[in-house]
Amino acid sequence: MSKNVKNSDTGEILDLQSRHIPCPKSQQEFAIDVLLGLSHTHKWLPCKYIYDERGSLLFEQIMACPEYYLTDCEMEILKTYKKEIIAKIGKGKINLVELGAGSGEKTKILLQEMITDNIDVTFIPIDISSSAIRNFTTNLKKQLPGIKIKGLVSEYFKGIRWLSNLNCCTNVILFLGSNIGNFEPAGANVFLSSLWNACNDGDYLVTGFDLKKDIQLLLNAYNDSGGVTAEFNLNLLRRINNELGGDFDLKEFQYYSTFDAISGAMQSYLISRKKQYVVIDEINRMFSFKSWESIHTESSYKFLVDDIEKLASRNGFEIIEHFFDSKNYFMDSLWQVRKE
Ligand code: AVI
Repeated sequence: MSKNVKNSDTGEILDLQSRHIPCPKSQQEFAIDVLLGLSHTHKWLPCKYIYDERGSLLFEQIMACPEYYLTDCEMEILKTYKKEIIAKIGKGKINLVELGAGSGEKTKILLQEMITDNIDVTFIPIDISSSAIRNFTTNLKKQLPGIKIKGLVSEYFKGIRWLSNLNCCTNVILFLGSNIGNFEPAGANVFLSSLWNACNDGDYLVTGFDLKKDIQLLLNAYNDSGGVTAEFNLNLLRRINNELGGDFDLKEFQYYSTFDAISGAMQSYLISRKKQYVVIDEINRMFSFKSWESIHTESSYKFLVDDIEKLASRNGFEIIEHFFDSKNYFMDSLWQVRKE
């Protein structure tokens, strides 16, 4: 285990990000990413920085929006096929590892079923947000008394490296919610091959994929009537103000999200409503924005089944089964790591 792993106050959470003490490294990374992104000809910011405590809460609100169909579809899949998924995995000792735990409502469906089935399971949620992990582990212990749980505060890749130490039992990795869609295509391949490297032969991966569908449904999902998704994206600028001494005037940036048929993704932006200058103290820079100049904040890729199968085979996974919701909007795909 890496030297900088800190035990949290509960002893049941490992914080690879060391959020409880000043962590110059993660702040430096944030500052460097902001400097690089805003210096680019086409300004951009990595969407992972949306998720501080406020951003994670806003994402939970998005998941409750009627327009954001993804969550309900995946819940339906897990409720309908939980027995089939568990039967395919088998009943040996399991580490159920969730990447990007968020509020974890979906995972509870599988966990509850495994516990009912007397499967020896340890649940390991991994999330960049220490508050999400802390809330999640506390709630889950109340809801599923006796559950074995070890929360991990980490970025996915750090978490995956940590995972490679866990060779005591079958790892079943959950990457739900179409989080994979937030990677650019090359990044998705790097992510999957890193995961494959960290896993043992025979480990499993359950990945959620949002499928291509009627464009209006996609546009509605990323442009909710309550404006929650706009606030969620603006949280990036709010974080720069709070953590890097920025002076973004949030009212002067408009959220815009559209489907790009060439990339096959919902592309989200914050657009400057006027010519303006923004100073960011921590990086000692002033950035100029032309009227209606954009900052790209997020790509949310949508998939065809064929794309998904190529992703699996290109990265060393065998497809065990695809599970769809009744509207065919979403798919959870069960893959197995093949090394021999
Ligand atoms: C976390 N991720 C899969 C969400 C998505 O759909 O891309 C984040 C999100 N962005 C806007 N709404 C939800």
